[in-house]
Amino acid sequence: MATSFNRRQWLKTGLLGSSLPLLQPWQLLDHLQEPVPGPSGKMPVRLNSNENPFGPSQKSREAVMASLDEGNRYPRTAINKLKEAIAQKEGVGVDQVLITAGSTEILGLMGLIYGLRGGNIVAGDPTFDYLMIYSELIGAKWKRIPLTPDKYFDLEAMGKAVDGDTRMIFICNPNNPTGTYIPKAEVSQFCEKYGSNVPIFIDEAYIEFTDGGVSNSLKDMVSDNPNIVVGRTFSKVYGLAGMRIGYALGHPDTIKVMQQFCMGRMITPSVPSMYAAMASMDDKWFTDMTVEKTMQGKAMVYDFCKQQQVRYIPSHTNFIWFEADRFKGDLVKTMASKDILIRSYADQPGWYRVSIGTPAEIQTFIDAAGLELV
Ligand SMILES: Cc1ncc(COP(=O)(O)O)c(C=O)c1O
Repeated sequence: MATSFNRRQWLKTGLLGSSLPLLQPWQLLDHLQEPVPGPSGKMPVRLNSNENPFGPSQKSREAVMASLDEGNRYPRTAINKLKEAIAQKEGVGVDQVLITAGSTEILGLMGLIYGLRGGNIVAGDPTFDYLMIYSELIGAKWKRIPLTPDKYFDLEAMGKAVDGDTRMIFICNPNNPTGTYIPKAEVSQFCEKYGSNVPIFIDEAYIEFTDGGVSNSLKDMVSDNPNIVVGRTFSKVYGLAGMRIGYALGHPDTIKVMQQFCMGRMITPSVPSMYAAMASMDDKWFTDMTVEKTMQGKAMVYDFCKQQQVRYIPSHTNFIWFEADRFKGDLVKTMASKDILIRSYADQPGWYRVSIGTPAEIQTFIDAAGLELV
């Protein structure tokens, strides 16, 4: 009892007494729907988190089992091995790679480093907002730049929004939730123009799903410019979302600063995750299969939308952003009542996002959505 009283007292004087906002973690997490059994008692069809339904690959499963012998050791050796493999694959030095437990950790880290001194972060809206949410908690402002009518980043407006208080520009390319992709040449031109003065973070979580795949990455810019950092993940095309592996590519000086701010002393990733990542990195069969099946699923959704005159945004990712006005009521709720999870965003009324599951899961979604047309 005494302990809980003391803790409450401390919270009051420590947090409420300061200029920091009282943290309310549920506000950050309220969009995460737990995949509990639905009304029918079955596990739902999970089309709400852009996961890869085909993972983990056979090779990574085997690597995880074999890695258990090292499970009594801290993961530094395993992390270093993955770092070397990534550095070699990406054509950068090992001191240009930071590995974390999912790229969410990198977004939080960037939000922390660049939000700490207040000021603003320039980013499109809607986009993947975790970096900005994190930096707003500690005092920076998100300068929200509306997307163009066809849901692309308005790079010109983003550039114009940069001012003396801008601490960072965030570009999610391809973008979540719209699935739109700005060609490499345009983004690199933008980075050339603004990256000499302002740090720019490029979130490339879905780059493998674009035409041309990782050749579209801006990773080649990081070696010459300490202001450019690229974020990647093993959660999407590699099918390892639950294993939690992400990485940043940056200039050695920038990576050094990021390492200093890491909350888990750079040992948050687990040994099995590191080996799962190494095994999946060169599993071209698995990643090709994922991309191909994703394209199949996307084609099914596009056909449905075209037939039913539902407006959708052509996607360069493993999800599709589509308009709500051809559907009755709240499609997220109706789908959930049928054990199918999709997503909407409170601040983006009129639009839904469906992740591309297996073709069978997509068929289930299409059949159910077809019954909800006005
Ligand atoms: C654009 C983008 N970046 C980063 C992440 C975080 O992924 P993870 O933490 O699993 O690497 C996601 C997850 O959906 C995402 O959509």
